[in-house]
Amino acid sequence: MALHRKNLLGIRELSIDEILTILDTAEAFKEISRRPIKKVPTLRGRTVINLFFESSTRTRTSFEIAAKRLSADTINISVSTSSVTKGETLLDTARNLEAMVPDAIVIRHSSAGAPHQLATICKTSVINAGDGANEHPTQALLDALTIRNHKGRIEGLQIAIIGDISHSRVARSNLHLLTKLGAQVRVAGPATLIPPSFDKIAEGSSGSVVTTTSIDEAIDGADVLLMLRVQLEREASAFFPSLREYSYFYGLTAKRLQKAKKDVIVIHPGPVNRGVEIASDVVDGPYSLIYEQVTNGVAVRMAVLYLLMGGSQSEAVREVNR
Ligand code: CP
Repeated sequence: MALHRKNLLGIRELSIDEILTILDTAEAFKEISRRPIKKVPTLRGRTVINLFFESSTRTRTSFEIAAKRLSADTINISVSTSSVTKGETLLDTARNLEAMVPDAIVIRHSSAGAPHQLATICKTSVINAGDGANEHPTQALLDALTIRNHKGRIEGLQIAIIGDISHSRVARSNLHLLTKLGAQVRVAGPATLIPPSFDKIAEGSSGSVVTTTSIDEAIDGADVLLMLRVQLEREASAFFPSLREYSYFYGLTAKRLQKAKKDVIVIHPGPVNRGVEIASDVVDGPYSLIYEQVTNGVAVRMAVLYLLMGGSQSEAVREVNR
């Protein structure tokens, strides 16, 4: 199956078939990263621009690696040395970049909706690499790929999303994705960091969402724990008395982990605040798949670039086997 869309702006607007097409294509592309020569000619002659208005280690690097593994040319725009510092607007920046005829613009921005605005004026594909607290679609896709690899399915799993929910685009994209695929999601965090209408995200899906302020309730019998970073740069610390208290009530420790299923997996989008939302020995422990998520991020971003540029899942399989 192919993706018949120009942009990837969020999980909200994706169908179940589209999500599965991206995951299956990513699964096929994983093999390329295990080869001694990690490159196929699939996107030769294509150009991908990374336009990041917020800092990033994993997303920006993995989009660049993904494009290069498919032989596309990649350009990274550093906003601090661009004409944005001279007052150029986002839309004028995009118009000028588009005049150089790229095939995709990958954008991260602190404002929710910035990629959507770009998509209205650009003929080029626009990929959302995180917009404010709205969505981070490729993160949810790589999380789903990681879960599916270990559990064989998403449907029916008990998945806890724990932490700073309000500020988290990862939580929103994951809630859309996991409930579309039929997971039972428990959302846990301080009451001040859980938006009131969050359980409505599951409406119309085969999954469900319940919210709780008790981390122990969320962990009890869970198959998957998705821990979220406390977003200190978005002033999350104003929503609870102190980091010490946050860690005491909401930090994932090895002791708390015992309440989950025996084969529980722990994921975290990174960057991790060790000792705040998750203890250091859990990050490095046997249940943690945090670095596997990063590896899967390359395959997911290869799949997204490839599919948006007109490829299909069956062609991806043929490409890998060539
Ligand atoms: N998970 C994630 O988006 O990490 P970066 O901010 O490093 O890209």
